[in-house]
Amino acid sequence: MSDVIKIEKVPVENGDGIIALVSINRPNKLNALNHEVSEGLKEMCIWAEADDEVRVVIITGSPPEDALEGKRAKPHAFAAGADISEFVGKGSDEILELFADNAIEAIWNLSKPTIAMIDGFALGGGCEVACSCDLRIASTRAIFGTPEIKLGLIPGYGGTQRLVHLVGYGKAMEMMMTGNNVDAEEAHRLGIANQLVPSEELLEQTMKIAQTIAGKSMHTLRVAKETIRAALDNGLTDGVKIEAVAFANLFDSEDKEIGVKAFLAKENPVWKHR
Ligand code: COA
Repeated sequence: MSDVIKIEKVPVENGDGIIALVSINRPNKLNALNHEVSEGLKEMCIWAEADDEVRVVIITGSPPEDALEGKRAKPHAFAAGADISEFVGKGSDEILELFADNAIEAIWNLSKPTIAMIDGFALGGGCEVACSCDLRIASTRAIFGTPEIKLGLIPGYGGTQRLVHLVGYGKAMEMMMTGNNVDAEEAHRLGIANQLVPSEELLEQTMKIAQTIAGKSMHTLRVAKETIRAALDNGLTDGVKIEAVAFANLFDSEDKEIGVKAFLAKENPVWKHR
């Protein structure tokens, strides 16, 4: 994996496997998503999907380095967007090709649970990375926004679509038309951030949630994710039908038998598909 993507493997507490703590590591550029970061994230997704050890993926931004003498410290960032310097002189053909197979879609398409851990700026493409994860745990200094309009652009990694689902049509319009940021409290109120915690507790709280999820059956988690996602692409009537089939199919799974028997025996389930 390249230097701009760091992966720490944290053991799952109640069972085998690991939680992959993935950091975008360009703190001097506020973890902006350049080509190298995008390729690194795609590579990480291929690894995380294929490696049975990986139970949950947490994505975050590296913290700022110590300030150089006489210089101010850089702010904390999850990611301050696509790397704007790579936009200069590019035309639609090149951009269509670059954005067709992008890191944000790779994260979105992971079948395993994903959590964005946000401490600082999550702007533009950074906000889109966060919105492509299943959960967002934010610190009180997190700042979300879609400032692309100020560059003569709009979000290009699915932000116009995914934000509508998270915050609703009206607020999405406001965010993308004004380019104004949303602070952590408002992001929590709007449903962008699932949880809000002080910066010093962010890692602990995110890990706690990741550990809770990692202790579940991987098979059931996959089915849950796929079925909940169906709500985004289908109307209620079709969505309920999709759920009915998914629910029924789980009755043929080994983990349903394990989970139900463990409950009745007052024991902890030991999942087959861990
Ligand atoms: N692309 C490329 N470089 C970026 C960047 C981005 N999206 N966001 C920040 N950087 C770089 C800055 O150019 C600067 O580099 P330098 O120190 O070599 O000059 C460094 O990161 C620190 O950023 P700086 O702007 O000095 O920090 P700040 O505290 O003054 O402001 C922000 C922080 C987030 C408000 C500001 O960096 C910003 O507006 N970034 C762009 C956000 C954006 O438009 N994102 C959408 C892109 S499509």
